Parts: sequence; C-alpha cells; structure tokens
Amino acid sequence: MSSVTELGYLGMSVTDLDAWRAYAAEVAGMEVVDEGEGDRIYLRMDLWHHRIALIKGDTDDLAYMGWRLGDPTEFEAMVEKLTNAGVAVTVASDAEARERRVLGLAKLTDPGGNPTEIFFGPQVDAHKPFHPGRPMFGKFVTGSEGIGHCILRQDDVEAAAAFYRLLGLRGSVEYQLHLPNGMVAMPYFMHCNERQHSVAFGLGPMEKRINHLMFEYTELDDLGLAHDIVRERQIDVALQLGKHANDLALTFYCANPSGWLWEFGWGARKAPAQQEFYTRDIFGHGNEAQGYGMDIPLQ
Ligand SMILES: [Fe+2]
Repeated sequence: MSSVTELGYLGMSVTDLDAWRAYAAEVAGMEVVDEGEGDRIYLRMDLWHHRIALIKGDTDDLAYMGWRLGDPTEFEAMVEKLTNAGVAVTVASDAEARERRVLGLAKLTDPGGNPTEIFFGPQVDAHKPFHPGRPMFGKFVTGSEGIGHCILRQDDVEAAAAFYRLLGLRGSVEYQLHLPNGMVAMPYFMHCNERQHSVAFGLGPMEKRINHLMFEYTELDDLGLAHDIVRERQIDVALQLGKHANDLALTFYCANPSGWLWEFGWGARKAPAQQEFYTRDIFGHGNEAQGYGMDIPLQ
C-alpha cells in the first residue's frame, strides 16, 4: 500500500512579501532565496531547493501543501488509490512540476477545500549548504520528518480523517479540552513518519484554511533566541511558551505577517505506535494575544 512519507512543502499566499522576507529570515532563521521571479520568494530550511514558497497574492493564507511519495511507482499507486476512492486527482504537467521543483506532481483538494498536492523527487541542492537568515546554534528538524505540522480547517472531521487515512496517515483524537462554554474540543492528530503529527484539525470553525505551521529547531537555544526576538519586536504571542502533552515539544505560537500563527518548537518526541489522549498540556501555553483561533485553555 502506498503511503505519503512526509509533509514536504508548503505554498503560502501573502500580501506583503517584504514583511515576510524579514520575518522568515530575522525571526525564524530561515534562508530566503530570491530567484528574481518577482511574484515569489522561497524559504529554505535544509538542503532542499525550498520548503516554503511565498507567493504574492491578495489573500494571506495557505496556497497549497505538498505530501511526498518515495518514487514514481508509489506516486502512481497513490494516484490510482485516490481515484478508485472517488477523489478527483489531476496529474500535473511537466511545467507545473518544474514550478514546484519536483519530478512528478498531482493536484487534489482535501475535504476542507485545502489545495493538496502529492509529489515525488524534490530538487535537493546538495551543493549549497543551508545558510540561516540569522545566526543559529543548530538547524531545523526536517529530514524524514518533513517540514513540520499544520493545523487545517476541516468542517467535517470524519471526512478529513478518512481522506488523510487514504493518503496513508495514522492517528485520531489526542485531546479532550473542556472549553469555558461547556463544550469539549477534541482535536485530531495524524502522522506519516516519526514526527508526532504532520497534520491536525478539529479546532472548530476557522476564518483561514490554516491556523498554524509548526517547525522545530534542533537546539533549545535557537528556540530561546527566536523567543527573545519575538518579544523584542513585540510580535503578538497567542500561546506562551509551554509543553504539549502529545508531542512533548516546548513551543510558543506567534503571529506571522499574514495574521495567522507560526509555532516555534524544540524537543518533540517521536510518534508513538499507540493512541493516547490528554486533558491538558504539561505546563505553560497560556493564552495571550486573542483572535488567532487559539483562544482555548490548554492548562
Ligand atoms: Fe501545533
């Protein structure tokens, strides 16, 4: 059975490329690559040509997410599996694959309406060492664990879970959070490699397709440095430093120039083989700036 191996890349539609250029490099430490295309810049996190494409647009939201398959055989098997399950999949042209810097590409939509892609063969610039946008003690955690994780808008959680299971992800509800209004939020987390989760959903109605992207540093000091820079620049922090009960990552959530959240993290554990659920986080993650879709009690 063919299965995706990682969340490989993201495209983001952004209204202010210059603000993003500064934020990605100076706050997060990513390497900005500008190839003179005019409407887009790229963010490197490792040796890949890019992990994130920032495309000038009139919305500030997720443009697409790319899930990797190991090789053309697995890619074709996934296209067939999705098609047989009634999912509309369009195998992209060579030009479209080149635009993504991959060898093969297909486009589809997840049940939440989020533009989704499957691909194989990313361009890896092995000759070009990763050069962080600001001094860093270590690197980003990528490799076989992919870029990080995203929380997506899904109005039908069961349909979303069935779709991502078809892609080959595993997982289920990992929290039952008692909300002040008496409701219980039960967010759903799914993984496809050692990263504890690559996608999650079930946070209720959302304005944007994406609530946050989480990425992870190899060194705790890089998380601390990022936190200092965020505080110095008085960037909105939606969730203060804290440790999640599911992935055990020390993280904080702050606003990006598109008005949604980036979760900066360190120290996540690997995906366990069996399911558990939690009723709160271990410590921290106190709510601070409101209105970013994370006004939920985690402690
Ligand atoms: Fe997260």
